Amino acid sequence: MHGAGPKFDLTALPPGFCADPYPHYAELREHAPVYQCQDGTWLLTRHADLERIYRDRSNFSSDKRAAFAPKYGVESPLYAHHTTSLVFNDAPYHTRVRRQIVGALTPHVLKALEPAVVALVDRLLDALEERGRGDLVTDFAAAIPIEVIGGLLGVPRDERAPLRNWSLAILGALEPVLSPEQRAFGERSVREFLDYLAKLVADRRRIPGGDDDLLTRLIRDETGGQPLSEHELLHNCIFLLNAGHETTTNLIGNGLELLMRHRGELDRLCAQPELIQGCVEECLRFESPNQLGNRLVSAPVDIGGAHLAPGAYLTLGIGAANRDSAAFPDADRFDIGRTPNPHLAFAAGAHACAGMSVARLEGRIALLRAAQRFPRMQVTGTPVRSERARFRGWKVLPIAVG
Ligand code: HEM
Repeated sequence: MHGAGPKFDLTALPPGFCADPYPHYAELREHAPVYQCQDGTWLLTRHADLERIYRDRSNFSSDKRAAFAPKYGVESPLYAHHTTSLVFNDAPYHTRVRRQIVGALTPHVLKALEPAVVALVDRLLDALEERGRGDLVTDFAAAIPIEVIGGLLGVPRDERAPLRNWSLAILGALEPVLSPEQRAFGERSVREFLDYLAKLVADRRRIPGGDDDLLTRLIRDETGGQPLSEHELLHNCIFLLNAGHETTTNLIGNGLELLMRHRGELDRLCAQPELIQGCVEECLRFESPNQLGNRLVSAPVDIGGAHLAPGAYLTLGIGAANRDSAAFPDADRFDIGRTPNPHLAFAAGAHACAGMSVARLEGRIALLRAAQRFPRMQVTGTPVRSERARFRGWKVLPIAVG
């Protein structure tokens, strides 16, 4: 037994779970794919079940007010933030906000982004080369997304420093268990982030940016529908900065660690750089940055042989579904040439990641340029994992690049 069965509990993870959750997931998938945890919530681990739930908006809801009210208290800034983010809402509010964001992230905006990402990645690789070694997370993976989204929203470069910690604190508050310190840090971060963005938005209203400035496009409201209120705009900008930050950091960190662990695949990528697209997809599948999602059952429904009543709270095991051999032959093999690769790292359906093109662009540029520049890079010292169930990534990953 690896923890499946009556003992498995997301709020009290078995020892070693964060180092390697996959044997636990495999056991759940096999023996209890729709598993009721001790607190009454459900954990689902099969690809087919997750895919169905993500695509079914009539029986499954993203509205988290009922879950977050007891967790944070309705007066809490964390409650205000998370319940205003589009990701934790249903139609019609979700549809209205999503239309704005997807409409603002045009191919033109993305194309304009590319040269800056290439230049940034090369600058970071230059610095690593000069030192011969470094921490792949701080010196590379984490330095990219914050610059990219900061750039997309037009946050001046010298004002980007606090964004990372605000973002980590606010997302950290989504973990199943929250210490009083984490809660206080999260609440302070929402307040400070809001104050900062309110000034940024006021400046941009006075002096609008160009066509490739995402914030200007969001303020301008190009959908012709009901525009976002100031409260909605600010909280969803915070969400955008958060959504694209730690997840993409982890895509890059996990991806490079995977390539170093599978030298044959690293050599294959260097020999066939056209495999980079598939490589990014395989990294997303194999070590999904976002391991867990949630939905609320809104109408009685049968799934995987279990009957779920309205109000049942579901945790969707994305990391588990992405290793399901029913969807991926030889699922525990890391294969950058895998096709098809219908992974759920970006979820699916109406709430599928709205920033996936930005994440893929960053992943392609960062992984390929690092691999080509340092084909002999290797882990030195002791890597440290971030011990969290929801967001999978490295905290420290010491490497030598020579
Ligand atoms: C590798 C990086 C990323 C991963 C793994 C990821 C994963 C996800 C997942 C799983 C969801 C669905 C959540 C749910 O409905 O339960 C999501 C939603 C979202 N993501 Fe990402 N994301 C990444 C990067 C980004 C970036 C770079 C941005 C912004 C530029 C972004 C913006 C969003 C937004 C706005 C949503 C909400 C969509 C909606 O509710 O309609 N993400 N993401």
